[in-house]
Amino acid sequence: MSEEENKFTIDKINNCYRKFLHDKSRYLLLYGGAGSGKSHFAAQKFLRRMLDEQNHRLLLIRKVARTIRNSQFSLIKSLIYDYELENKFRFRESDLTITNSENNNVIISVGVDDREKLKSIHGITSIWIEEATELDRKDFTQIDLRLRNRTGNYKQIIMTYNPVDANHWLNTSHPKEAVIVKTTYKDNQHLDDSYIEVLNNLKDEDREYYDIYALGNWGVLRNIIYRPFEILTSHTTHYDEIIYGLDFGYNNPTALIKVKIKDACFYLEEIIYESRLTNTDLIERMNKLVKNKSDAIYCDPAEPDRIRELEEAGYNVHSANKSVRDGIDFLKSRKIFSRPENANINKEVLSYSYKADRNGNILDEPVKFNDHALDAVRYAIYTHCRNRKADLRIRRI
Ligand SMILES: Nc1ncnc2c1ncn2[C@@H]1O[C@H](COP(=O)(O)OP(=O)(O)OP(=O)(O)O)[C@@H](O)[C@H]1O
Ligand SMILES: [Mg+2]
Repeated sequence: MSEEENKFTIDKINNCYRKFLHDKSRYLLLYGGAGSGKSHFAAQKFLRRMLDEQNHRLLLIRKVARTIRNSQFSLIKSLIYDYELENKFRFRESDLTITNSENNNVIISVGVDDREKLKSIHGITSIWIEEATELDRKDFTQIDLRLRNRTGNYKQIIMTYNPVDANHWLNTSHPKEAVIVKTTYKDNQHLDDSYIEVLNNLKDEDREYYDIYALGNWGVLRNIIYRPFEILTSHTTHYDEIIYGLDFGYNNPTALIKVKIKDACFYLEEIIYESRLTNTDLIERMNKLVKNKSDAIYCDPAEPDRIRELEEAGYNVHSANKSVRDGIDFLKSRKIFSRPENANINKEVLSYSYKADRNGNILDEPVKFNDHALDAVRYAIYTHCRNRKADLRIRRI
């Protein structure tokens, strides 16, 4: 199909990536600052190949299979709709497959955590690994081996990631012949102003963060706040209580986290993590996702109007305790468990840091970036436990 027959024209691709649309190197590494359009371009390149080439079996990979649905899969699907190509494609949500009905090219998905499925996949013609820093070198070697068969088209592994840790193998021992493309938000002509402002503000928040997420340089975050939460693949099914934490956003994501409590341990479950939700959208989502309206929801105290609206919609909402430092210290002393599919909690916890001033002195405040899920977790656990203690004290009197 020619590029003119649909809305997927070359001008839809950010300038800096255009020359890589037909790049055939075996490894195409797209890294750099936040919001630079890496994922968008990887999705566009896959879609272009699905339309223009034949006999494709393209593979989407992330560390955790269950995080593919809301990232790579939904991105490619939304591009297909944006470009009005939906009549040409079939989507199978059950196993995250996209088929071009005209030429039978197919995109399939697998997580590195699904080792059996990964081993059984054959005939792959190219691969896109999203958030590739989640993978270790061994994972990558295994995947690389899967792409050894003969095909008519060029075989390529695209990897997209942020340069969060200078000691990562993607910096120190990536394949030598890789084509490496470094981009920053400045390369993305489609980024909204509010996000640019968030990235620019990092300059005054923390140099290291600014360096990594705005300038796209490999860095080392030194003032990480939490040790990563222990990850359990299955959580117990009986709980003493269920509570929620809610961080409001619009340009930033709104995060709703469910916290299940059992024997003074906390089990986290990501329910919503999505940008551009109005309060009406949020309530609509919550009506589907929050089973019991009487469970306590501890909300971002900065938005009393939104809290009131949730109350009017029948939710048991509370304004969360504001003291950040005490909340963090409390969480650090608790047993908190995450699970593999909590992609955003697990990602945020790896970079959530205290600010440092220009002389490198650690300040008492966290950097305000990639903190939405963790704020929600803190609102829930700290406020709930504090209120409980206060209750007990009152009853004793
Ligand atoms: N070619 C494009 N056309 C329209 N919107 C785009 C394009 N490229 C990027 N965007 C938008 O810019 C934003 C950032 O893009 P994207 O998520 O691809 O960046 P990224 O580099 O993968 O970011 P991160 O490092 O956070 O993963 C998204 O909202 C995306 O929809
Ligand atoms: Mg991305």
